[in-house]
Order: sequence, then C-alpha cells, then structure tokens
Amino acid sequence: MKSEDSSPVGVKAFANLALVKYWGKQDSVRNLPATPSIGINLQELFVETEIEVASPTPGTEPDAQPDLTVEVNGDLQPPERYASFMQALKETSGFQGRLRARSRSSFPPGAGLASSAAGFAALAVGAAVLAERSGGRELSERERSAVARVGSGSAARGVIGGISLFPAGAEHAEQIAPASAWPELRVVVATVTTAAKSISSRRAMESTRDSSPYYRAWLDDAELLKDEALRAIDGRDLEALGEVIRVSYLRMHATMLAARPPVRYWLPVSVQVLEVCEELRRQGVAAYETMDAGPQVKIITNTVDKDRVKEALLQLPLATAPVVTAIAGAPEVHVPGDAP
Ligand code: DP6
Repeated sequence: MKSEDSSPVGVKAFANLALVKYWGKQDSVRNLPATPSIGINLQELFVETEIEVASPTPGTEPDAQPDLTVEVNGDLQPPERYASFMQALKETSGFQGRLRARSRSSFPPGAGLASSAAGFAALAVGAAVLAERSGGRELSERERSAVARVGSGSAARGVIGGISLFPAGAEHAEQIAPASAWPELRVVVATVTTAAKSISSRRAMESTRDSSPYYRAWLDDAELLKDEALRAIDGRDLEALGEVIRVSYLRMHATMLAARPPVRYWLPVSVQVLEVCEELRRQGVAAYETMDAGPQVKIITNTVDKDRVKEALLQLPLATAPVVTAIAGAPEVHVPGDAP
C-alpha cells in the first residue's frame, strides 16, 4: 500500500454480543461505561463498509460539510451521530480531512442486533488505515478500540474480536481469548422482528440511570458477575457461563423495566423463545439465552446441541430463520485491488 494511495478501504466487522452487559455510562460525554462487559464477535452477523477520504463538494463551504458522511444499506445517516467519533479520531491520529463511508449489513440494523457495535468497529478500523495513509499516526488496536468506543461503547469490544473484556470506566476493551479459543461455542440468533427498536440503547440507558431505583444495585453487582463469567470462560464451562449470562441480561432488563417511563423491549414472541430455552434446558440441552436493547433473543449453545436449539425455534413465528454462528475475530481489512 503506497502512502499517497487514495483508494477506498474495505472492512468487514462483526456484531459483538455481550455475555455480561454494558448498561449505563460513567461519563456520557466521553462515553465511558459504568459496568464491565464481556463480549464475543459473531461470525455470521457482520457489516461490510467501504470508507474513503472525501474530496470537498464543489460550491459548499468546507465548514458546512460533515467530517464523516455515512450511508447504511443505502440510507444516509444523521451526521451528528458521528461528530464525537470523528473528533476522537482526529485527536488520536492527527488526521485532518473528511471521510465518506458506505455500509451494508448482513442483518437488520437498529433492531437490537448490535449494528452500532459492528458499524463503529468497521469505521474505526477503516478510518485508522486512511488516517495513517494521510500522514497521521499509526493507531494501536487499543487506540482503535478507544476511538470506536466514542461512537458506541459496544464497538470498543467489536474492534478487539474473539472474547473481549471492557472494564468499567475503561477507554478501550482488551482481549481475553482469541476466537479460536472456544471452537465448540455457538450462538443461535432468534430474530423476533426486523423492525427498528422503539428507543435507542443510548437513550434507554441514560433514562435507566436517571430514573431507575434499581440502577445502583445493578452497578454494585456488575463486577461480581464479570468475575464469575471470567472464571467460567477460563474453564470453558458452558453451563456456568450460561447461568451467569442469564443473570446479567435479566438484571439489566429488570433495571430498565423499573425506569420511569419504563423501558420494555420484550415482545410476546421473545417470551416464547425464553420458554423454549427453559424447556430445552429441562431436557438437558445447552440453551442459555440473552437479550439486548431489543426484542431479539440470542441463545448460547455448543456444536452438539445447536441443531436441537434451531429446530425448536423453527416452531415459533420468528421474523427470519434462526442463524447459527461461531465466534469471530477482529474486523478484517481489505484494500480493493490488493490480492485477497
Ligand atoms: C444492551 O454500545 O449501543 O447491547 O455506547 O450508547 O452507543 P452506546 O451503547 P451501545 O449499548 C449496548 C448495550 C447492550 C449491551 C452490550 O452490548 O454490552
């Protein structure tokens, strides 16, 4: 790759699923998390982003042009959403220009399937390549994770890939284990609806912090859940991990249900999926569900039981066929024209 190269950069980045949840901010301006979280990148849920340095639009005042223009599945996104991310990129790398990105996702965006984690991870990794090419400083993986975090907290984990930890108050995530460390682990994604969620996770977590009387208890307990999950991951103990991930998501949702006004993402079919998981566990099948800011349910299982989980879900009125996925690594960079 030449330093004066102006060709676009392609990045494939993966949705990051939290096993232990980030919900609440220590600092809303810098977007620092109030709880530690543990996430995995999902191989089959990804965005493919093409990003390039934007030349100025003729006839438009330079100050009137956004620093970053983003299209997701053909829809132009509000530029304000990217302002702090671009500021962080510029401060960290010394990059001075403007960027343009086009993104396509393999799954419905904005529906609680971690599209912002995948989207900002792709932008951070691609923008870092372009910044360096334009004479800026090379960013380490941790710095790219920190830039992604400013865009969206969960994206800090997405940049790292494999199994990652994002400590409370931290600027970036770190790797616990590579994707290859747990080859038998599978996630079955049950998409209950493809409609965009009613309230963004950002607004919902702010409202939980400001109005839920259970928020303090949620924070107090979060470190213990993280430690329990780390022990389970260390021992590759799916049953122990399954138990702690269920506690984490249920406490997160209990906290937001107690907000004023309450935040409820669950739909009737979400609850049906939870009942199916409960029945599967009674039959000795590994099926440990988790939910995020949306009605979708993701079920952690293994290579032995994944088909039983999928078959059971096929009996329900889901919006799309269940997707079975393994853990993915960090975002993959591809410069068009380069040999793959
Ligand atoms: C429920 O990362 O989308 O998915 O930092 O405000 O952009 P912002 O929030 P975001 O929140 C993710 C919340 C979650 C849990 C998780 O991924 O840890």
